[in-house]
Amino acid sequence: MRLEPVRIDLGDLGFDEGGHLLVKRALRRLSPGAEVEVGGTGPDLELHLATWCRAQGHRVRPGSPAASGALAAWIVTRAADAPGEADGLGWPGAARAGHADASRPGAVVEHPPATWGLAARGARVEPGSPDFGFTLADRIEVWSDDAARLYAQAVAAQWDPATAVPWSASFELPDDVEDAVVQVMTYLIENETAALVIPSRFIARLHQHFREVMQLLAVQAADEARHIEVFTRRALLKRAEPGLSTAGGQASLLTLVQEPDFPIASFLLSVLGEGTFLILLRFLEEHAPDPVTAAVSRLAAQDEARHVAFGLAHLRRHLAEDPGFRARLASAVLRRHDALRHTAGLNAEVFDALHLLAAGSFASSALRQGHRKVQALLAAMDQGRKGNLERLGFSPTEAADLSSLHTRNFM
Ligand SMILES: [Fe+2]
Ligand SMILES: [Fe+2]
Repeated sequence: MRLEPVRIDLGDLGFDEGGHLLVKRALRRLSPGAEVEVGGTGPDLELHLATWCRAQGHRVRPGSPAASGALAAWIVTRAADAPGEADGLGWPGAARAGHADASRPGAVVEHPPATWGLAARGARVEPGSPDFGFTLADRIEVWSDDAARLYAQAVAAQWDPATAVPWSASFELPDDVEDAVVQVMTYLIENETAALVIPSRFIARLHQHFREVMQLLAVQAADEARHIEVFTRRALLKRAEPGLSTAGGQASLLTLVQEPDFPIASFLLSVLGEGTFLILLRFLEEHAPDPVTAAVSRLAAQDEARHVAFGLAHLRRHLAEDPGFRARLASAVLRRHDALRHTAGLNAEVFDALHLLAAGSFASSALRQGHRKVQALLAAMDQGRKGNLERLGFSPTEAADLSSLHTRNFM
């Protein structure tokens, strides 16, 4: 920091023509309390300087014209309480909104003020900024240190539906098998739609101080948009219309879409729902009767694994800080189970379609084999859910109970 007096002659440069940039630069290089002598003959220089200094928290007083030759001069004193860093930028009272680098201590705060609004994390925010009314604004509810890594991974793993799937592969399936594929795709599409809508709704409520989480949810919604695209395209590859959507399946999805609490929605959707779907998609890839079905299932599964990983990561962190939250997660499963008690659960047509795809034909031995494979699929889904529940600290008994109460619609 320079301590010697600084003089600037603006000449006839107007303060609003750029004179203020010269003054600002000079002040920035000075310690609080140090002074700059400003001279010039620009129009209304005194008025502009006084107004600007007031806004920036600096003081100004008349200087000696003699000091600057023929020019009128004023002395500007850099605010002693220049906020935050000694950057001399003025804006008194502007406070830093955490730090840009999430790994710095204190970078991501517990309860960011709503008046930080849309400011970049780490920016200095002028007092009086409007309240954006974010309702998802507590770190415990959303944050995971893994969000940035998962986001980067997600961006790098984006695939292009136009080129990643062998759409022009030539194949012809028996009508029943094609119908089964169309039915499964129809079911997948509505579930993927729920998986797009849910994070999207929370993004709009989320305090963007948790930038990495916002970005991850956005790319997750984009993943689901691609899943909807490829499943729709596979459904319509050989048929004019998709298959059947059932009231029970939609009732199950409605309970997810209507869940107002982010961590609970994330638990039900990402950990239990997408965790179960991941196993379903791998089953579909394995038993796909054609290369397009195999590809769309494989590609979607690879994205779902990330969605599950984020759900587990932020919930584990949440539970480490508030173990009592585990009971609320358990009661959310019970509540959802009760709400769906009188619905059919999984679309029976979907179940039959999975059976046929696993069987591969209508021969008795194949059907019997297909039935066993679907039973094994259900057991694997149950195993997967129990594993994830235990990762969240539920005991094996609790995990088994909760897994058995999970919606029969899988998602
Ligand atoms: Fe998906
Ligand atoms: Fe997903």
